[in-house]
Amino acid sequence: MFFSRRFDHLLHLQSHFCSWDCEVNLIDAVTIKNFYWRYPNFAGIVSDFALKNITLTIKENEFFGITGPSGAGKTTLCFSIVGLIPHQMQINDKDPRQYISGNVKVFDETVSAIEEKDSKSVITGRGVMSPEIGLVMQDPESQFLTMSVKQELSLGLQFLGLKKEEIENRIKEALKRVGMVDIYDMADKIHPAELSGGQKQRLIIASFIAMRPKILILDEPTSDLDPAGKIEVIEAIQRLKKDGNLTVILVEHNPELMQDFADRMLVLYEGSIVAIDEPDNIYSNSKLVDKYNIYAPEVAELKYGTDSKRCATIESFIEAIPKNLNLGKVKKEDYVGNTNVMIKVENLHFAYEDGTKALQGLSFEVKQNELIALIGQNGSGKSTLSKILSGIEGNFKGTVKVMDLDLHDSKNRKNMPRHIGYVFQNPDHQIFNRSVYNEVAYGLKNMSIDLPVIDERVKS
Ligand SMILES: Nc1ncnc2c1ncn2[C@@H]1O[C@H](COP(=O)(O)OP(=O)(O)O)[C@@H](O)[C@H]1O
Ligand SMILES: [Mg+2]
Repeated sequence: MFFSRRFDHLLHLQSHFCSWDCEVNLIDAVTIKNFYWRYPNFAGIVSDFALKNITLTIKENEFFGITGPSGAGKTTLCFSIVGLIPHQMQINDKDPRQYISGNVKVFDETVSAIEEKDSKSVITGRGVMSPEIGLVMQDPESQFLTMSVKQELSLGLQFLGLKKEEIENRIKEALKRVGMVDIYDMADKIHPAELSGGQKQRLIIASFIAMRPKILILDEPTSDLDPAGKIEVIEAIQRLKKDGNLTVILVEHNPELMQDFADRMLVLYEGSIVAIDEPDNIYSNSKLVDKYNIYAPEVAELKYGTDSKRCATIESFIEAIPKNLNLGKVKKEDYVGNTNVMIKVENLHFAYEDGTKALQGLSFEVKQNELIALIGQNGSGKSTLSKILSGIEGNFKGTVKVMDLDLHDSKNRKNMPRHIGYVFQNPDHQIFNRSVYNEVAYGLKNMSIDLPVIDERVKS
């Protein structure tokens, strides 16, 4: 639809240049009143309004979250704030009211409105708000315009007509703010395609930050990234929040991020606003969460508290547990296990061939009947430990005993599948057979068990 949103943005710099040193009055950053938008459809079918009666104010320096199911209108709302909608859309201007009504203002300047002139409806407003607003989209690839990281960062600054020295300063500062200042010296030699997903997205953020926008909109900036990339971008957003002095609008599904970052959040559903409130108030409202299928924090699934109000944070959950809670017939032994030690690990060290130290001095015991949860960040060694315990990895240092069998002994490791069942993360990695029967029988056959016994076990 748009050739490149960033390019559209940049083209508008020259005609709408505004000095950054001008005084900022304490006014609302974004004001939207009774805004409706319907995408034009040239096949003659009238589509539904993508945005319906949106009325909303975002304050200067606020961190504002937007969430809602796919197709709810989140991206459409972002485009409307930037002015891409309606100004970059081809609509039948004989009757623009079919598509749009209401108005959008940014820092008290009309971005879009519809007025009657000479008994005709016309769309007015300044249109695309650049450089005051930066818009970071989901897919970093589609937002690159140049051949090097340096050019990418300096393009917008050149449009602003800044001097070389100022451009260098701003590039360095922007890279610092997204945690990438270490590539500054090499920036003219690196092609954006050489960067990882997280770095690409941070580069896009930096190229907007360098233009010192008043508002930065991030439309699902982490949804195309791998876990490591997501963390990098989240850390960059965290830093932007800490630095302050920027109004941030973040479209995101992750409730924990919303709780950490957003001062307020908006829930969009089928083009309408169904709630605007602080994240904890939204997530604790069980009717709202259930009705609009909102991703809520896991703790809100635990149904302590009244039916209509759930706990949005661990702290409020602990508060809500009755102090004289009666656990009824549950005995301590039932969940802490008995005294038989099933797994004993002492001072366990493990390094992969490339030298990566995955486990460093781990010691613990697991008792019979015990249920133990192993938690840790990506790469903290959970799978490595599971592989050692199930006999897959033998090249470790320290003591690992399963039911008193020493796993340094390769015979014991080979026998481990008899004692430990290991379910991997990805089921496709552990299904080998073409039928369900053969799959269930596979391990038993490897253990040379008699066929009638196998048959009985598979069926049971
Ligand atoms: N360029 C377009 N032309 C026509 N309809 C569109 C266009 N972009 C989005 N829509 C429609 O507008 C509605 C809102 O879409 P969108 O804003 O992309 O939702 P979200 O970002 O919440 O997933 C959806 O029904 C979608 O199909
Ligand atoms: Mg979207």
